[in-house]
Parts: sequence; structure tokens; C-alpha cells
Amino acid sequence: MPAKKAKIAVLVSGGGTNLQALIDAQSKGIITSGKIALVISNNPSAYALERAKKAGIKTSVVTKKECGSQEAFEDKMKTTLNENGIDIIVLAGFMSILSENFTSAYPKRIINVHPSLIPSFCGKGFYGLRVHEAALEYGVKVTGATVHFVNEIPDGGEIIMQKAVNIRPDDTPESLQKRVMRLAEWKILPLSVEKVSNEIINKK
Ligand code: GAR
Repeated sequence: MPAKKAKIAVLVSGGGTNLQALIDAQSKGIITSGKIALVISNNPSAYALERAKKAGIKTSVVTKKECGSQEAFEDKMKTTLNENGIDIIVLAGFMSILSENFTSAYPKRIINVHPSLIPSFCGKGFYGLRVHEAALEYGVKVTGATVHFVNEIPDGGEIIMQKAVNIRPDDTPESLQKRVMRLAEWKILPLSVEKVSNEIINKK
């Protein structure tokens, strides 16, 4: 009988390079304790949806606009996640802050990747390229990425893994973003997903 795997849902909004890193880690055997069973996007035109379809993963689009309110949007996502028997929710470039109504339903079951070393350059307003702009503006010499559990405080949950990346004198927000993704995010996100999946299946 094949070993039981944690069922993973990945929530996305854009390009989906972190989703791709998870798909690749699954085919390379870096993720073995979990299986990506669903991708939910809050943006119907996210390229991440194409990546999921190419990999044969079920997709769903849930938008705040269609749902009418934050509460209805979160309730619709909860229904979709519960209908699919999801164990772990991975926020991979998901650009919508989730309220306590959602996060409290999945304690230590939601994980997020953030493109800085938390507690620097995080919280409300710090997302995507803005994080790297802020790091360069401040003049820090080292940045990186953090994977953490998600609770009701934006970027405030328990840290699972971090990886540092040196800043170069000629970095632009774009060059820094690419290097932080390649050297940090695409590595620690799959490793964290494997770690949490493994803990979940061994608890069951
Ligand atoms: C990634 O750099 C991710 O860390 C960041 O958005 C990018 C999404 O890229 N997330 C946040 O800033 C969340 N606060 P992707 O769609 O190619 O994975």
C-alpha cells in the first residue's frame, strides 16, 4: 500500500515561480510526504494557473469581486479546501491578506513564503517587488527569504526556515528579487513543505 501523503493546496495570484518550484520538487522526490492536490488563484489571469494545468493539477479561481466581500471570499475558499480534503495550505505569492476568520480555521496548517528575513521588511504593504525596493532603500547588505506559519498577524507567525542572500552594490529591485527567489525561496519553500507534510502524516 503506498504511504499516506498530506494533501496540499497552493494559493497563488501571479507568475507562480514558487508553485513551479513545488511542482519540480515533487517530481524530483524532494517532496515525498505531501502531494499538491489543488491550486487556487484569486486572479483569473494568473500564469500560475497555466503551470498547474500543465502539471495536471486541479485548479479553482475564487475572486473577492465575485464573492462580494472578504468574508464571502474566505468562506468560498474554505468550502473549496474542505471539499478537497486539504491538509496544508501554501501561500505562494498569494497577494491577499487573510483575516482571522480564515487563519484560525487552520492553525499551523497555513504556510507562507516572504521575500525578506522577517522581522525586516514585512507586514502590511510589504509584498513582491516592494520588499526589495525597501531593502535597497534602507541599505541593508544582507536580505533573504522566510517561510513561516500564517496566523492573524500579517507575516507574524512562527518561522519555519530562513535563508540569507547577499546584496550586491549594483542590485536593482528586479535583480535582487530574482536572486532571492533562485537562491532562497525556491529552495526553502519545498523543504518547508516537506517538513510540515511529514510532521502532519506522522501525527495522523
Ligand atoms: C515571491 O517573491 C513571494 O515571496 C512574494 O511574491 C513573489 C511571488 O512570485 N510574496 C510576497 O511578497 C508575500 N508577502 P511567484 O508568483 O513567482 O511565486
